[in-house]
Amino acid sequence: MSGEIVLRMEGISKAFPGVQALDNVDFEAAAGEVVALVGENGAGKSTLMKILCGAYRKDRGRIILDGREIEIENPYHAQRLGIAIIYQEFNLTPNQSVAANIFMAREPRSPGIGRWLNLVDRHRMEREARQYLDRVGARISPSSLVRDLSVAQQQMVEVAKALAVNARIIIMDEPTSALGEDEVEFLFRIIGTLKEQGLTVIFISHRLEEVFRVADRVVVLRDGRRVGNMPIQETTPEQVIRLMVGRELTEMFRKRKVEIGPPLLEVRGLTRRGVVHDVSFTLHRGEILGVAGLVGAGRTEMARLLFGVDRKDRGAILIEGKPVEIHSPVDAVAAGLGLVPEDRGLQGLVLSLSVRENIVLPTLDQHARAGWVNRLSVRQTAQEYVEKLNIRTPHLGQQAMYLSGGNQQKVVLAKWLASRPKVLIMDEPTRGIDVGAKAEVHALMSQLAQSGMGIIMISSELPEILGMSDRILVMHEGRVAAILDRAEATQEVIMAYASGEKRQT
Ligand SMILES: Nc1ncnc2c1ncn2[C@@H]1O[C@H](COP(=O)(O)OP(=O)(O)OP(=O)(O)O)[C@@H](O)[C@H]1O
Ligand SMILES: [Mg+2]
Repeated sequence: MSGEIVLRMEGISKAFPGVQALDNVDFEAAAGEVVALVGENGAGKSTLMKILCGAYRKDRGRIILDGREIEIENPYHAQRLGIAIIYQEFNLTPNQSVAANIFMAREPRSPGIGRWLNLVDRHRMEREARQYLDRVGARISPSSLVRDLSVAQQQMVEVAKALAVNARIIIMDEPTSALGEDEVEFLFRIIGTLKEQGLTVIFISHRLEEVFRVADRVVVLRDGRRVGNMPIQETTPEQVIRLMVGRELTEMFRKRKVEIGPPLLEVRGLTRRGVVHDVSFTLHRGEILGVAGLVGAGRTEMARLLFGVDRKDRGAILIEGKPVEIHSPVDAVAAGLGLVPEDRGLQGLVLSLSVRENIVLPTLDQHARAGWVNRLSVRQTAQEYVEKLNIRTPHLGQQAMYLSGGNQQKVVLAKWLASRPKVLIMDEPTRGIDVGAKAEVHALMSQLAQSGMGIIMISSELPEILGMSDRILVMHEGRVAAILDRAEATQEVIMAYASGEKRQT
């Protein structure tokens, strides 16, 4: 169980232009404790943690570490104080070895003349790196290059790196959002190990089932205020959701019964050597086709082939019975496809443009006549989606870079929802999005399907797949392992196909 309180944040406030991101927030954590920090997109979770790790300065409040009040000057200072943060976008150098990354800028020097020449003692570095990797239970060679590792393995290296600088408080900001089910399990084991070693872990996640599995205590933020602080045994997911959104939530997975229409998209023998093999399926009007599979099964790659981001080696694509040639995303959009990419930060958003511009970007011509953009209709469309998805922004003109992570994702979703393609491919559409907005996204998907759109929804969350899909395509090692009807699909059946244990003939 948890030991004494090591960290106390008292009355923390932080404002940005137009937003009070944190308002008088208290937060404490004990040694050997896992504290979950939850709240809707824009509630202030990342801001609070950025203050703790020296990335932002607080406006007001006190931070007390081991009973002593401290001012955290910058990230290096936080690191020296034993506070490490693992961001979603890792800070690793891909072309260097695991060991070099763990010892970044602190490499042990060779003895003797080697020391004089300032040579890195590679042997010792790898040996010591091995120890830190062992402490997190990672079976990774210290000499392998970071770029050859999976996302989950890179995360392990980040944790090992935190241990190497003697971190006692490890902050994980949405660590599971890019992981598959097995990898999440592994991360939880790592968190368990850190806990046993007396470290404090602060865990941010939008997935409440994870929070309830891994945390000892949950702290809830709403609109920059702390509205809950409960031992996990004394609360329920329902209570946490109520505190987060400040209202009762209507049921999740609001899938409406929609009449399935004629074929809309036919994919035949889609292949890209080494990645996607002979993928064939049909998507109908009004249908939501869920795509399940483990990380690395080729789901995102298939979406990229369909959308013309990558070149296919073979295969035909038909839309409404007519073959279409798609060599680029421009071709794809012209053919009536839309793609909400998985990596929204990089691919989906123009960070320097406003929320309004981002939302209407693909549909600008619909708001224009004879070269004149109708600003009123642009504003109305943007406003409509900001309200529908509850995008937290001080105004429509705010640059996208200043929104919280989840709100940026909502903007990308809004942009594609507003463009109403015939076929919408959504890669992990609700990743990083809070529970309230998730229900809205699901409701919108149902609504779009009802209006005749066909939706391909790639998701690693089985409840979402089971809740929203009419049919489920399961991928394994780049191939279609099964196409299941909603009625015959269960978590177990999907996992059996996804893991390669079973295969439809
Ligand atoms: N650098 C910044 N400039 C302006 N506003 C900011 C900045 N950083 C954060 N904000 C605003 O502060 C508020 C809190 O953002 P924060 O990133 O802490 O939210 P969050 O709880 O982490 O949300 P998410 O679940 O979406 O990651 C948001 O309204 C956000 O737009
Ligand atoms: Mg955040």
